[in-house]
Amino acid sequence: MEELDVLDLHLLRGGYAFVFGFLRKINEWLYVRKLGEKQYSLPPGDMGWPFLGKMLSFWRAFKFGDPDSFISSFVTRYGGMGMYRTVMFGKPSIIVSMPETCRRVLADEVNFKLNYPKTTQELIGKKSFHDMSNTAHKHFRRLTAAKINGSESLSMYIKRIEEIMIGSLDEWAKMERPIEFYEEMKKATFKVILPIFLGSVTDDSFISRTKNLFGEIMKGFNSLAINLPGFQFHRAIKAKRELEKIIKEVVDTRKSMKKNDAYTASTSMLDLLVEAEDEDGQAISKDSISDILNMYLLAGFDSVALATLWMVLYFYENPDTLQRAKEEQIQILKRREPTQKGLTYLRSNKWSIWLSEKIIVHAIDEMLRRVNIGFSLFREAKEDTTINGYLIPKGWNVLICLRGVHMDPANYLEPEEFNPSRWDNYRKKGGAFIPFGAGSRFCPGSDLAKLEVSIFLHYFLLNYEVERTNPKCPINHFPSPKPSDNFKAKFKRLGSDSMDV
Ligand code: HEM
Repeated sequence: MEELDVLDLHLLRGGYAFVFGFLRKINEWLYVRKLGEKQYSLPPGDMGWPFLGKMLSFWRAFKFGDPDSFISSFVTRYGGMGMYRTVMFGKPSIIVSMPETCRRVLADEVNFKLNYPKTTQELIGKKSFHDMSNTAHKHFRRLTAAKINGSESLSMYIKRIEEIMIGSLDEWAKMERPIEFYEEMKKATFKVILPIFLGSVTDDSFISRTKNLFGEIMKGFNSLAINLPGFQFHRAIKAKRELEKIIKEVVDTRKSMKKNDAYTASTSMLDLLVEAEDEDGQAISKDSISDILNMYLLAGFDSVALATLWMVLYFYENPDTLQRAKEEQIQILKRREPTQKGLTYLRSNKWSIWLSEKIIVHAIDEMLRRVNIGFSLFREAKEDTTINGYLIPKGWNVLICLRGVHMDPANYLEPEEFNPSRWDNYRKKGGAFIPFGAGSRFCPGSDLAKLEVSIFLHYFLLNYEVERTNPKCPINHFPSPKPSDNFKAKFKRLGSDSMDV
């Protein structure tokens, strides 16, 4: 009897090993073997489980553990070459994490195109920048990015940003109960960008309705791509359609105002698109206008709310840096003309020298490096392409792993440390600092984002302090990096210390 039990156990183990080994080979057969001789030029790696690939390890690391363990597991197993093959988001992929390789992929529009997961593509919209030809992208990018780039455009938004940030801080400080800083900050950043893109919108119910729709769409980005009632993706698609309707109504209103002479020139991106032509000299369709605005709005508020949240969090955890940053802001007030209220550019062409000197500028860069608001940039190889002697086969995705670059001790000593001073004498190395991407897709909103964060910090540092409700609350890194309680905190206005700004 005992002998039988031992035999059973051996059979069970053998069976398990067989099934396990068989399953682990399926993706290898599906994607690697079929490349024939070319398979020997692929980078090393692990194609993971059928269908899922390495998604389970990815979710485990980002949702419940240390996000850097995901890339370091490849480095430990296969070496530090910074290119690894795997399956992610349903596609055979090459993960890249060396600065120079990331830079090469991002700069190469001939061999690589954007290819974000299906949920993202559908929710941003087929006619947004995602699916455009290179020529159309260049045309629309030049047309639209001017609205949020350069000192002339940005200086137009300073007063409004100041009003929104001062108003929000004041409102939070008056609240009896702690607020969810992340949720509240999203309201503030949404209020900043809505008029830039859609025109003068003062109606609170419109702002709150559209913000809720965007919130629903954002949740869909990281959901399963199942468009059936009851699933998040279905709700997100419904929200996207409703939003499309709203944007198209605004387009119609502006167009009819133009016909009736009731039109006053507006500076919004929507007006600009209504009046402009596409790359072939044709009027731009309502679908395209809607998708482009949808993309800008989606890209432009959650990211900035997260960046602000992390700045406040790092200052909260680093009282010395907080104190130095505060001193710096006080100096800015002292240098200001006595008659001046509010903030303006000190010089005309660089955002970084108007409001803040080194400390805030470097603290923001350090936050962007350390936090990695987007975990990866997605490209697809249009042709078989060889980089560093490794093949990236046509149709495979390339995942540019931002954490892999920014958290590698070869690029940043003691990368875990939040250390703004590391930027004091920083020598630029191509591809080593890419929180806003690189190449033709470099984030057009980077300066606006930094401007918003800097203005918020100016008023926060001078007049407020924050007390977290759950200072030990764990950090979630998926879908976005933030404390799992959304940074529950009480904002307090400083008493006699506060400055008249
Ligand atoms: C801290 C805040 C932000 C971060 C970290 C960030 C990051 C990025 C990154 C990494 C890309 C490149 C994506 C790629 O190459 O695949 C990108 C693109 C983009 N961003 Fe941002 N962004 C931020 C804020 C903003 C803001 C405020 C706006 C607009 C108001 C904006 C609008 C866009 C748009 C439209 C694109 C697509 C550009 C193109 O395809 O040509 N972003 N962003």
